[in-house]
Amino acid sequence: MRRLALSLIGLLALLPLASAQTSAAKPMLAATPPMGWNSWNWFAGKVTQDDVKQAADLVVSTGMRDAGYVYINIDDTWQGKRDASGVLHPNEKFPDMKGLADYVHSKGLKLGIYSSPGDLTCAKFEGSLGHEQQDADLYASWGIDYLKYDLCGFRTKLDAEAPGDKLKQNVMMRDAYVKMHQALLKTGRPIVYSLCQYGFDSVWQWGPEVGGNLWRTTGDVRDNFPSIALIAETNVGLGKYAGPGHWNDPDMLEVGNGKLTMDENRTHMGMWAMLAAPLLAGNNLTKLTPEVTGVLTNREVVAIDQDSLGKQAERVYQEGPVQIWSRPLADGGRALAVINFGEDTTFLRGIPLHLKEAGVTSGMKARDVWAAKDLGAIKDDYKVALKRHEMLLLRFSK
Ligand code: GAL
Repeated sequence: MRRLALSLIGLLALLPLASAQTSAAKPMLAATPPMGWNSWNWFAGKVTQDDVKQAADLVVSTGMRDAGYVYINIDDTWQGKRDASGVLHPNEKFPDMKGLADYVHSKGLKLGIYSSPGDLTCAKFEGSLGHEQQDADLYASWGIDYLKYDLCGFRTKLDAEAPGDKLKQNVMMRDAYVKMHQALLKTGRPIVYSLCQYGFDSVWQWGPEVGGNLWRTTGDVRDNFPSIALIAETNVGLGKYAGPGHWNDPDMLEVGNGKLTMDENRTHMGMWAMLAAPLLAGNNLTKLTPEVTGVLTNREVVAIDQDSLGKQAERVYQEGPVQIWSRPLADGGRALAVINFGEDTTFLRGIPLHLKEAGVTSGMKARDVWAAKDLGAIKDDYKVALKRHEMLLLRFSK
């Protein structure tokens, strides 16, 4: 019975995918990892329509849009109440959602929104349970381009309806994600579908089947280096599940939120680029410094993240606190990250590179990406020196 339930879900989810593939005119959604800005990490429950408008303005004026950041995503706490017909209205913080979408679109940007398959969201605002199609239609009528769908309130339902039965709970969870996927498809509007359920039940194995363009692999990112290191560690081995249209999501960026040093900001950004991660800046753009803007908009780092081959890096080896991650690139080259995760504040010198092991073929030329410096054809005896939490990001080309 369980097997039957699972396969029915699989079939349901695949049907629209099959029809999408036959209509050649439709470009693939999230062909490269989505890039943009999201309100949660900085504004959390305080976000207002004006904050979002201002973020759109700043994404343009700081050059972030031109570097690829196009989704302006409203996270939790925009929802008001449903009227007698069940139609959801935004709360007083968002008086004109359609107007906001028009404004964002007029800047060459896209607008994202947030909901939950539960009756309530994480911040205890109205969820979509029982109103999936109605909500999807509402989003489409406003001109929404991206939906983050956060399990949260649905967990109460799982515990109430299938107490202690993990297998049944997992089937129910997938079902809930399929339901919203179907609803989004029915609107006819291309809406990127972001699954947020913290990696439960190895979501990377079934995310594409339920229509996900990206799925969170972990709990929430925090504005501190141990959180960045833990998320990197949790993503070891997940590379094979990512590719054009369907990405592992190690959560939004904390770059520029104040608690990371500049070395840590670069390591965080560079690590996410290696992971072919969605790049959703989560900072207060009114406080952007030129240094932080430089990290977020570094064209060469963004190009690694957005590489059209879509192959996420894997950790190839580690030596003490130093980890080496490698990913192949569309031009036949490679990106290699050497990261010092150690706490020792003295400079770590003489770190050897095992280039062959990292997939670098002889004769390839190296470029130090953060330093924007060509290094030429380096050899295995090339020695790296790194400060605490520093990353060397190398791009090898043939
Ligand atoms: C969490 C989610 C966060 C944020 C928050 C809003 O479950 O992981 O990214 O969306 O809910 O309440």
